[in-house]
Amino acid sequence: MNCYIIEGGRPLRGEINLQGSKNSALPILAATLLNRGVSVIENCPDIKDVETATEILKALGCTVSKEKNRITVDSSNCGKYIIKEELMCKMRSSVMFLGGLLAVNKQAVICYPGGCCLGERPIDIHISALKAMGASIYEIYGSFYCLLDKGKSAEINLSYPSVGATENIMICATLSKGRVVINNPAREPEIVELANFINKMGGNIKGAGTEKIIIKGVRKLKKYVSYTVEPDRIACITYMTYGVLTGGKVKINNAPLTNIINELEAFSSMGCKISLSENSVEIEREGKLNSFGKITTMPYPGFPTDSQPFMCLMGTACEGESVIEETVFENRFVYASELRNFGINAVCKDNKLYISECHIKNGKAYACDLRGGAALTGAALMAEGESRIYNIEHIDRGYEKFEENIKSLGGKITRYYEEESAEGIG
Ligand code: EPZ
Repeated sequence: MNCYIIEGGRPLRGEINLQGSKNSALPILAATLLNRGVSVIENCPDIKDVETATEILKALGCTVSKEKNRITVDSSNCGKYIIKEELMCKMRSSVMFLGGLLAVNKQAVICYPGGCCLGERPIDIHISALKAMGASIYEIYGSFYCLLDKGKSAEINLSYPSVGATENIMICATLSKGRVVINNPAREPEIVELANFINKMGGNIKGAGTEKIIIKGVRKLKKYVSYTVEPDRIACITYMTYGVLTGGKVKINNAPLTNIINELEAFSSMGCKISLSENSVEIEREGKLNSFGKITTMPYPGFPTDSQPFMCLMGTACEGESVIEETVFENRFVYASELRNFGINAVCKDNKLYISECHIKNGKAYACDLRGGAALTGAALMAEGESRIYNIEHIDRGYEKFEENIKSLGGKITRYYEEESAEGIG
């Protein structure tokens, strides 16, 4: 089993250049199906989920080449429309290919996607929205058989501002006949990026990032488009948190500042010393941290759920009790039980996490999801002595050069393969 061996208790100091945004790159790669031509995606993060996305594109008949962080997709011969279960179950974003397949091939066969275990994570909102656009979708034994002979205009009122469902609609509606309006769409920065990419391709999407998105179907798209993915806002929060909690000082050189306002306000309210320039942020801790009180995660522009595990870690270094209420996913505190292996007292009750200040000790823990795994790594970096984090495949899905970045800041972390002993690891 792959694990990280971490020698913690060392202040992290230095500068980081952020990877491209995982949650922007994935829907954009799915949207490359649309132009039946060439898309060059720059600053694509070199992570497992992007690798999976390229495998899906190839399985659908596209040619894909990768040169460091540049991915070139040629979707001219994308004639296939079935995504096998072993690819669908590798990540949540596999569902994002549904909209593109219906747009270009008029049919698709998929099954439920995989992704972090944060709750049930159904796809009912995706399905009902695509049906409203004229798709016929039949679920038989967990597979979805989908047809869209001709799309139609629709006004879709999302029951919940689902990021993935919003993205699927935007992709599918790009080539539809007529106009699709999405009321109550997701407003995350990744939605804006997807619209920017599709519009650069020749699509017609207006209102991304607001409470109404209007997509006017176009007859054809440019056969060549290039696009550079923005920096990853959650990776930014991850390394900022590591810098503060190890008592160091970290500068993020290409920080997406306008996308992390909530977190910057929280860090500042805790008493962190923050210096901002045009697109960089430097952060360090000055003495004791104040509790952030209560944070409630909400759909963007509310406090991002993906940053909540790092706020939990911050709470361990604050005087008094801090509370996090998770409203986006019904089961996103699984990592908190693993944090107890580091002496962290984080108690979950009614989807609220109560965190008290504590002295962190080294320990062993198992990553259960991407951001939770990164939070466990943060606890190991804080604790004096050797700690081990297992199931680091979860972290590989979303963080590029994770160990290299931590080492470049003075952290001691090595990837290690540990044989599973009879009674379990270690
Ligand atoms: C995206 O997931 C992100 N993933 C998640 O980031 C992020 O946490 C989430 O948006 C919320 O911001 C990617 O972009 C690849 P949702 P997504 O659809 O699209 C429910 C990370 O760590 N729901 O907005 O799956 C769902 O169960 C990952 O990078 C339905 O009920 O999120 C959840 O409770 C983790 N029916 C809520 O909505 C549906 O059809 C939000 O889900 C769809 C969603």
